[in-house]
Amino acid sequence: MVKQVFVCLALIVAAWLVLPIAALAEGPANSVHEPTYAADGRLIPPVDYREWIFLSSGLDMSYNEKALASEQPVFDNVFVNPESYRTFLQTGTWPDKTQFVLEVRSSSAKGSINHRGHFQNGDIQGIEVHVKDAARFDGGWAFFDVQGNVPAAKLPMTAACYACHRDHAAVGTTFVQFYPTLLPIARQHATLSASYLKDEADLAKTVH
Ligand code: HEC
Repeated sequence: MVKQVFVCLALIVAAWLVLPIAALAEGPANSVHEPTYAADGRLIPPVDYREWIFLSSGLDMSYNEKALASEQPVFDNVFVNPESYRTFLQTGTWPDKTQFVLEVRSSSAKGSINHRGHFQNGDIQGIEVHVKDAARFDGGWAFFDVQGNVPAAKLPMTAACYACHRDHAAVGTTFVQFYPTLLPIARQHATLSASYLKDEADLAKTVH
């Protein structure tokens, strides 16, 4: 009897020790990667975006002033939070609380064994964030220009970002036409925007 009580106690102590460790393994409170904001409404820059889903690298596509002035080609790397990516695979649309990070990164031609082409280096020239949060933003989406880890104010609706993304982006103001694994999914779910389909049709007329 004493032995059974002892085993029972040992099991309770073991559970008490193991459960909090298991909870920690699931990660910090924001492990679902939803956008978070400071008390004044500014966006807290996501720091772990390099662990999110990588969508594509545009080469010399950036409209960032620093990138335009750069002598070396500039890459822009696009990441999206994993939960929203999985929803997109099922539906061809982005759920509320989706976050994209566009990381503008400089390149080098000379280094190590490289003789031709360019590789990305450690010089980050800009971080831009695109967030879907219907309860918070008119039109559902907002843009941010992030500087370090300081909370970023929403760019005003007059910023060029809104017009270009609204008029040309393929799915819900995001440039899915440049994310090669996602474009066929949007086509399959018929979620491509009318403006994108028009751009595509106009382009087809000029290409023979
Ligand atoms: C003239 C058109 C144009 C303007 C202006 C523009 N973008 Fe974009 N944006 C693009 C294109 C094209 C892509 C796809 C990039 C790629 O494929 O590498 C993109 C992608 C992005 C992405 C990745 C997620 C997405 O929506 O597809 C973010 C974040 C982003 N832009 C932020 C901004 C911000 C912030 C501004 C304003 C400061 C801005 N953009 C202005 C054309 C534009």
